[in-house]
Amino acid sequence: MSSIPAPTQRALRTLEWVTRAENLIVCGPSGTGKTHLLEALGQAAVDAGNKVTWFSLENLGALLRRHGADDTASKAIRRIMRADVIVIDDIGLLPVTTETAEALYRVVDAAYEKRSIALSSNLHPAGFDELMPKTIANATVDRLMHHAHIVLTDGDSIRLTQATAGKGVTPLA
Ligand SMILES: Nc1ncnc2c1ncn2[C@@H]1O[C@H](COP(=O)(O)OP(=O)(O)OP(=O)(O)O)[C@@H](O)[C@H]1O
Ligand SMILES: [Mg+2]
Repeated sequence: MSSIPAPTQRALRTLEWVTRAENLIVCGPSGTGKTHLLEALGQAAVDAGNKVTWFSLENLGALLRRHGADDTASKAIRRIMRADVIVIDDIGLLPVTTETAEALYRVVDAAYEKRSIALSSNLHPAGFDELMPKTIANATVDRLMHHAHIVLTDGDSIRLTQATAGKGVTPLA
């Protein structure tokens, strides 16, 4: 059912990329299994004894917004860095404020070569400058992509396929 090749899924499940603090970027259209893959890998990482933290890009922006002053924002980032894998889900779905773009940059910068970032996006990182100010996008993508595995998902939305096949709901009695 998944559009992600089984060998890729198996290779990712070894979690070698986590051991090496490399990143994983899953990008593709809506409904093609990006979040599903990150959930499965996140669970595998927890089962293997790693700490995993999970944010949507929106949550991450909101968290750092709550810690407006620089020193408390730094503390929040340090707390995030206690995790071995930092998942950032759902980039490219909603408009990104400059504050949220800065939050993403700060986390990517803090994690660079120290922690794994696993990110899902509807847009390839090369296009992040369409979502956020170019300077922040460039600095973020540069760090993110340096040691990153890229998985592209494609095909039709699994949600739409199930809905049109009548498998989205159980018939009412
Ligand atoms: N390998 C799979 N096996 C079974 N169901 C799957 C699989 N991959 C995805 N799904 C299901 O398909 C639906 C869509 O998957 P998911 O939410 O991961 O897509 P997405 O690419 O993250 O979409 P979006 O960009 O809109 O967030 C979900 O209900 C999910 O449980
Ligand atoms: Mg998703």
